[in-house]
Amino acid sequence: MRAARLFSGPELGAGAESFRDHRRRLGPAPAGSRNLIATLETSGLRGRGGGAFPVATKWRAVAKRSRGTAVVLANGAEGEPLSWKDRVLMAVRPHLVLDGAFMAASTVGATQVLLYLGEEHRAAAAAMSRALAERPEPERNIARLVASPNRYVAGEESAAVHFVNAGVATPTTVPPRPYERGVDGRATLVQNVESLAQVALAGRFGDEWYRSTGIDGQGTVLLSLSGAVAAPGVMEVEAGTTVGEAVAEAGGSSEPPRAVLLGGYFGTWIDASQAWAMPLETSRLKALGLSLGTGVVSILPDRACGVCETARMMQYLAGESAAQCGPCFFGLRALADACTGIAEGRSGPAELQRLQRWSSQVRGRGACRHPDGAVGFLQSALQVFWHEFQHHRAHGIQRVA
Ligand SMILES: Cc1cc2nc3c(=O)[nH]c(=O)nc-3n(C[C@H](O)[C@H](O)[C@H](O)COP(=O)(O)O)c2cc1C
Ligand code: SF4
Repeated sequence: MRAARLFSGPELGAGAESFRDHRRRLGPAPAGSRNLIATLETSGLRGRGGGAFPVATKWRAVAKRSRGTAVVLANGAEGEPLSWKDRVLMAVRPHLVLDGAFMAASTVGATQVLLYLGEEHRAAAAAMSRALAERPEPERNIARLVASPNRYVAGEESAAVHFVNAGVATPTTVPPRPYERGVDGRATLVQNVESLAQVALAGRFGDEWYRSTGIDGQGTVLLSLSGAVAAPGVMEVEAGTTVGEAVAEAGGSSEPPRAVLLGGYFGTWIDASQAWAMPLETSRLKALGLSLGTGVVSILPDRACGVCETARMMQYLAGESAAQCGPCFFGLRALADACTGIAEGRSGPAELQRLQRWSSQVRGRGACRHPDGAVGFLQSALQVFWHEFQHHRAHGIQRVA
């Protein structure tokens, strides 16, 4: 069901909430402390940038290594093509993100806050820049905006750190991970902007409050709802809201659905007959072998072609490889081309089996999760659209754009 925590307050159409209105509505943000980490731990807050990693665990790891010189990198790169919840959040509630970032900085002992925002997300960057100018001087002095390149991998945490250090937004071979050695060799807390906004509320109102809504006390989540829905857009819902309920909140389906893509380009296709009952909550989905990813729910209409759509998306993902790891660069290119060949009916009878075999060979063989995300997505497509893949291979239907 629709909820209003991050989006409580003025109408979203009114634009960015000012610092004065934000403070009047919510009161001052509490100072960072070890108690805050305990609160985040008992609240069960997990990251919203795709990996769903427990926030408290990461903060503790950075605080341990900080020696008072850590860095907080608020990740608002949002390179995922089907997600726009982070830029909407920053455009309307920039001070929630800033509160969370500064609370993180004082808790882990950071002397620098970097607001890493997609270079093409101008409304969000303008709102964050104006909001920063409204903050007290000590906060302004330690924070700055960094414009991230418009690439899918630029938001990966080691790529973000690499970009700040050397101007190149490609993932680095890990370890050390950013929490060990990141910006300028300092322990760096990379946290998605929605995660930080959730911190701003959980830190103010406590773990009991945080757990007072959402299935299993998991609070609220931001969704980017697209495709065959009457009113596509960004929506805040209680965790555990089903796909069907979220679609109903968005005015219902605009045409009969064929499948739902959950989690974005690294996500999973689910047949529409099963998708409607899926609970939008990380642990529940994990138990089903699924992920909420960055909160993407995209409805493929029945008249659209899942094979062509998958081929197009695989071409995009292959093109977004940072070209540093052979299995990712060559493997994804081969998979994407094979997919396109099948969609266009240019492949031999064994090509589908080959596609399945290749995809398992690519998994786990890159320095970052890019190839794993891409092949997970492809494997779900082969399951859901198996008959369509066979039909395309045999007959071809159209050229893939
Ligand atoms: C290819 C790739 C792209 C990513 N892009 C983003 C992004 O745009 N924004 C983001 O917050 N996390 C992104 N991530 C996840 C980050 O690496 C990191 O886990 C996240 O920023 C941590 O924040 P969280 O724990 O609050 O989710 C990406 C990961 C991968 C593998
Ligand atoms: S796995 Fe792919 S995207 Fe990740 S670092 Fe290697 S080449 Fe780049």
